[in-house]
Amino acid sequence: VTKIGVLTSGGDSPGMNAAIRAVVRTGIYHGLEVFGIRRGYSGMIDNDIFLMDSKSVANIIQRGGTILKTARSDEFRTPEGRAIAYKNLKRLGIDGLVIIGGDGSFKGAQTFSNEYDIPCIGLPGTIDKDIAGSDVTIGFDTAVNTAVEAIDKIRDTMDAHDRLFIVEVMGRDAGYIALHSGIATGAENIIIPETKTDIEELIANLTEKEKRKKLVNLIVVAEGGQFGDANELAKIVKGRLPNADVRVCILGHIQRGGSPTCEDRLIASHMGYYAVESLLIGRHNVMVGVINNKIHYTPLNHAVKQKQTIGQEWMKIVKILAS
Ligand code: F6P
Repeated sequence: VTKIGVLTSGGDSPGMNAAIRAVVRTGIYHGLEVFGIRRGYSGMIDNDIFLMDSKSVANIIQRGGTILKTARSDEFRTPEGRAIAYKNLKRLGIDGLVIIGGDGSFKGAQTFSNEYDIPCIGLPGTIDKDIAGSDVTIGFDTAVNTAVEAIDKIRDTMDAHDRLFIVEVMGRDAGYIALHSGIATGAENIIIPETKTDIEELIANLTEKEKRKKLVNLIVVAEGGQFGDANELAKIVKGRLPNADVRVCILGHIQRGGSPTCEDRLIASHMGYYAVESLLIGRHNVMVGVINNKIHYTPLNHAVKQKQTIGQEWMKIVKILAS
């Protein structure tokens, strides 16, 4: 490998810039030429590719978003799109790729490297933390801390008004942000897609609290769950608890932005370094992850969205702590 390309793909996540910086500087350290590819796979097809130097990644480790921009490319899903992308890479002599993104981005990388002789390394960049093969993903820690900060503020006002608040956090169909931020903010109830919520039990719990005048109740709910969005859940709760003063807050994309936490900068730097090392030693078509605090490599085709049962024990603890 002598010339490598780096791109960010799918939803952005805080820490992607730190990962780009690590890839560029490790590559240059090893005498490689490193090219930035803008807007993910779209830039590969549109030939939006430029040579980077050490300076081009100065002063970005602390920034959210991605200097390379990102996109979800439909064209790259077609053989024709991938053929154009390959031609563009070949013309520049790029013979290795580092893809920072989620499982959709890795699927694209796997297909591409099966078709063409371009080794690909994936780095898990998503706030959802839903990738098999890594305990951590770049951006999760920042997103969950943003959620905690926002929910703490909501708690001030809900407490002042004796309200029941339903706060919806992101995660697509994973409940990690909800589980972690809910525990950390002392939520009375946490609703995640991985665990079925018994609505009757939830209503009984809230009714019992109402009876003993505990009117301040926080429900943190993950998007993509069994009740639809937070407004749908609010309708159900209002219908069953007419006296409750219910409000809804959907945190939304605020969770995707902002300066990455120390933790996210560290894992991004670590993974970025090992992405280049992997290309150099011929450990190809893997995702660099972290398991039990150690770098771990997973074949790209196994680094897919992870459906798992999370939080069973925590759900029990949450009930006890919030009683
Ligand atoms: O995968 C990251 C994520 O922020 C999810 O949590 C969310 O469901 C989705 O992306 C939102 O996507 P978009 O930015 O396209 O609205």
